[in-house]
Amino acid sequence: NAVELGDYSHYMQKEIFEQPQALSNTLEMISGAGQLLPGIFGAEAADIFNQVDSVLIIACGTSSYAGMTAKYWIEQVAGIACNVEIASEYRYRQSVPNPKQLVVVISQSGETADTLAALHHAKAQGHAFTLAICNVPESAIIRETALRFITRAGPEIGVASTKAFTTQLSALFLLTLLLAKAKQRLSEANEKAYLDELRHLPIAVDKVLALEPSIKAWAMHFANKHHALFLGRGRHYPIALEGALKLKEISYIHAEAYPAGELKHGPLALVDSEMPVVVVAPNDEMLEKLKANMQEVSARGGQLYVFADGGSSVKSSEGVHVLQMPEHYGLLSPVLHVVALQLLSYHVALVKGTDVDKPRNLAKSVTVE
Ligand code: G6P
Repeated sequence: NAVELGDYSHYMQKEIFEQPQALSNTLEMISGAGQLLPGIFGAEAADIFNQVDSVLIIACGTSSYAGMTAKYWIEQVAGIACNVEIASEYRYRQSVPNPKQLVVVISQSGETADTLAALHHAKAQGHAFTLAICNVPESAIIRETALRFITRAGPEIGVASTKAFTTQLSALFLLTLLLAKAKQRLSEANEKAYLDELRHLPIAVDKVLALEPSIKAWAMHFANKHHALFLGRGRHYPIALEGALKLKEISYIHAEAYPAGELKHGPLALVDSEMPVVVVAPNDEMLEKLKANMQEVSARGGQLYVFADGGSSVKSSEGVHVLQMPEHYGLLSPVLHVVALQLLSYHVALVKGTDVDKPRNLAKSVTVE
């Protein structure tokens, strides 16, 4: 173990820091490409992408939050409807199958019982356009879909998923671009620009990793708390969900995530100085709305921990702690923000002394129902 871990204290920390490499491995096929070709999702991908009229993403846990993020991308960039379902719900629910829908299953392990069963259910309902995004090439799920994309995160040992998630996001962004192309919604210039942003992603993630000392300092403020609230809007709402999940999983602090616009419909009643409120606040279309939501928290004496970026212009003040992300990253900024949240939960868990890589009651891959 000591050898494999090198200078790191835990697999989770190692895996967080492997993300730039995991991303560049996963995106290797576009390293020199001027344009994207559907073949990266399989031989039949061109044909299938042309026929699909919508997307249905099915997954569990962290993988489902990758799917939720992709919903924002797919609807905005490709202009087709995208829904996301939790596998354990979908498999038992009476749904209305649409054979022109692309069914995407996302799974790090490719062995999650509910996700596999949901895929079987979709196929039995007449869905033939199926795609697996998976990190394990020899897994069960990979063998059962018409199309596939293998993320190249490498083995993920820590129970709480990190590098699998960001590589899933990169794969889903490639899918978004290819669907947009198939639907004639992507100009050549935009395609080039997005490819450049993807290629730059590992460097951008590296810069987020360099924030570790400041994030570690924040962790001290969380370790003695019993509850935390995570807020985001738009494509950063699923990132707030993932940040809350990470904190629950490894530090055992009760954490909830809300789309910030929902604050006044309930969670605001919980806000006091004892419940830190983490805000994912890049300079996107929703920033002004989000700032108003932060004001609602401050007015009730809540402590804000804001992950802003270059363009956000959120100022620190009494009760408002701000960490500036190094770059503003547009559509891909969920990938950067989640890395900061991973580091936060990791350091909170360290202060609390929990078993970071093997949190109580949880398993890396849930192969029974
Ligand atoms: C378990 C793991 C999570 C993971 C989920 C789905 O709960 O602890 O990290 O997100 O399963 O796993 P999958 O392998 O299907 O992505």
